[in-house]
Amino acid sequence: MRYAIVTASSRGLGFEIAVALAKKGDIPVITGRNELSLSESAKKIKSITGREALPVVIDFLEEDASKFFYDELKKMNVSPSIIINNLGGAVAGDKRNIDIKVLREAMRLNLEVGIEINNIFFEDLKKLSGTIVHIGSTASLHYDAPPGYTISKSALNAYIKNAAPNFARDGVCIFGILPGILDHEGSAFDSMKISNPDRYQKALDAAPYRRFVKSSEVAEYIVKLLDVNSPMINGSLIKVDGGTD
Ligand SMILES: NC(=O)c1ccc[n+]([C@@H]2O[C@H](COP(=O)([O-])OP(=O)(O)OC[C@H]3O[C@@H](n4cnc5c(N)ncnc54)[C@H](OP(=O)(O)O)[C@@H]3O)[C@@H](O)[C@H]2O)c1
Repeated sequence: MRYAIVTASSRGLGFEIAVALAKKGDIPVITGRNELSLSESAKKIKSITGREALPVVIDFLEEDASKFFYDELKKMNVSPSIIINNLGGAVAGDKRNIDIKVLREAMRLNLEVGIEINNIFFEDLKKLSGTIVHIGSTASLHYDAPPGYTISKSALNAYIKNAAPNFARDGVCIFGILPGILDHEGSAFDSMKISNPDRYQKALDAAPYRRFVKSSEVAEYIVKLLDVNSPMINGSLIKVDGGTD
């Protein structure tokens, strides 16, 4: 039985990853800011998989959030052997000629929080020969997304590549999953069907399989990779977009 932290997991990809892990017998630690929707998500995980998820209500953008999170897990006697850094996305005001404050917020959301979490739980991961997965984006490779998002996800790739050989010395494996446009209810592109149907259609036409990747598909893929339990994946950045580029 392994504990697996999945950040930002009351809905979207994080929720699907938590479900996929629970199906395999791991105990996901799920997080989000809204207490009600997080406890609803924990109930859904229980009803889908028959297994418990541990909900921790937290806003990772707050000062000292990672330390608070660590203390909460220690109170529950939880040492994670898997960390899925899924928290991320575009922040408000992320557009051309980016404001420096917006850039900092994007860096915090897509990069810094994940690094803080890895650092604070590193001793646990070392003891358990743990694995860290970061959820990046193919936007980090083709640079056409909003600037703060593109820059912070590209920096995340550099962090993974740089950390991998160092972490390996301590028996910790780190790799990145880079999804293309995600398909789940309420996702950014799902909302675009109504708000900007032309842009939605253009993106769909560019997708080789004429569909976007389902979040549940990405989740199953990650869990299968974790199941292989091979450190040879260390440092990999794996695109999951159906071959769009
Ligand atoms: N969507 C896409 O098309 C796409 C494509 C490629 C890569 N990705 C990447 O995939 C990952 C997941 O994306 P997604 O679209 O599934 O995300 P999402 O649906 O926007 O995720 C929302 C989740 O994050 C939580 N959350 C948001 N801000 C938080 C904060 N400050 N502290 C704690 N929890 C917070 C939300 O709960 P609360 O609201 O209750 O806090 C909710 O559980 C991200 O890293 C994203 O960059 C997404």
